[in-house]
Amino acid sequence: HDLSGANTLGLPCVAERFAAPRRVDELREVLALAGHRGWRSTLLGGGSNLILPEHLPGLVIQPSMDRWWIEAGVGDTVRVHAEAGVDWHGLVMALAGRGLWGTENLALIPGRCGAAPIQNIGAYGVELGEVIESVHLLHLDDGRESVLGADECDFGYRDSIFKRELADRVAITRLVLRLTPTPRPRLGYGDLANRVGEAAPPLAVAEAVCAVRREKLPDPAVLGNAGSFFKNPLVAPEQAERLMDEHPMLPHFFQPDGRVKLAAGWLIDQCGLKGRREGHFGVHDRQALVLVHFGGGSAEELLAFAERIIERVQARFGVTLEREPRLAG
Ligand code: EPU
Repeated sequence: HDLSGANTLGLPCVAERFAAPRRVDELREVLALAGHRGWRSTLLGGGSNLILPEHLPGLVIQPSMDRWWIEAGVGDTVRVHAEAGVDWHGLVMALAGRGLWGTENLALIPGRCGAAPIQNIGAYGVELGEVIESVHLLHLDDGRESVLGADECDFGYRDSIFKRELADRVAITRLVLRLTPTPRPRLGYGDLANRVGEAAPPLAVAEAVCAVRREKLPDPAVLGNAGSFFKNPLVAPEQAERLMDEHPMLPHFFQPDGRVKLAAGWLIDQCGLKGRREGHFGVHDRQALVLVHFGGGSAEELLAFAERIIERVQARFGVTLEREPRLAG
């Protein structure tokens, strides 16, 4: 089964076997079959935060349950249930269009709901973890179902329990979000406040976010990419202070835990790498944090390119960038 069109980087990939279950019990059956036959199973979402190898042995499972619904609200909040296969951006626009607040800043993030909590998707001052009430799971070893409350998911910056303790142990089957019809605009990041008024409805905020993203981020349908290729590094306050002395323009964000978050895109840009092309890959010319694939490249070539960028930033700033998209297989 060809997965070249199923990953936004557009890397060539052939999976030995593939299944796209449309119901939770089908997902359970397909996992049981894989266990029975001894196939290694790999879970796939929208393929927008993933680096695929040329061959994926075993069974690739793309959970494709795609229903979502709104639960009658209690007081000021409304519960939204979204199954793993629901397209994230489509859901955001539908909820914003219904006048519900909470996810509008996360518009135009590619991918499906089931993958969103793994890296705790975030943009423009909001992270998914803030609006999640719970996550429904299917355990890969015995097919049992369970529900994890948001506080048990250990959400952090581009991080959660699903990347650590629960990695390769569960399939996310459904998200339960908590939204509100009471206006709650979050316009503090970048120039959002200049683009949309305080009294604007959530749909206008979502559309402003889409406009900002379209200006900077390449459309994966046109140019292969996986969004930010590196995480913004968190450094100790002493190191941040040293760097700020040397580089007064250094963008920096103080974190509640005392550490300081730096902008990886700025660091790469300062190394003169923005717009640089090497072989089949390049650093995007409008946002240096995004690596793009011009076609014809492989995962190995991409990882080697990324390694060279990491070395350049390390040599210039003494800061080690970490990769954001995950390696499959
Ligand atoms: N900057 C540069 N040159 C560049 C890119 C950025 O100087 O080439 C500077 C900007 O001027 C700004 C700072 O770096 O001062 C931050 O840039 P930006 O606002 O574009 O955001 P980011 O930190 O580079 C993060 C997320 C994005 C998210 C935006 C907006 C990560 C790894 N990335 O990028 O998420 O959309 O903030 O919230 O945290 C993604 O994860 O795929 C993603 C796109």
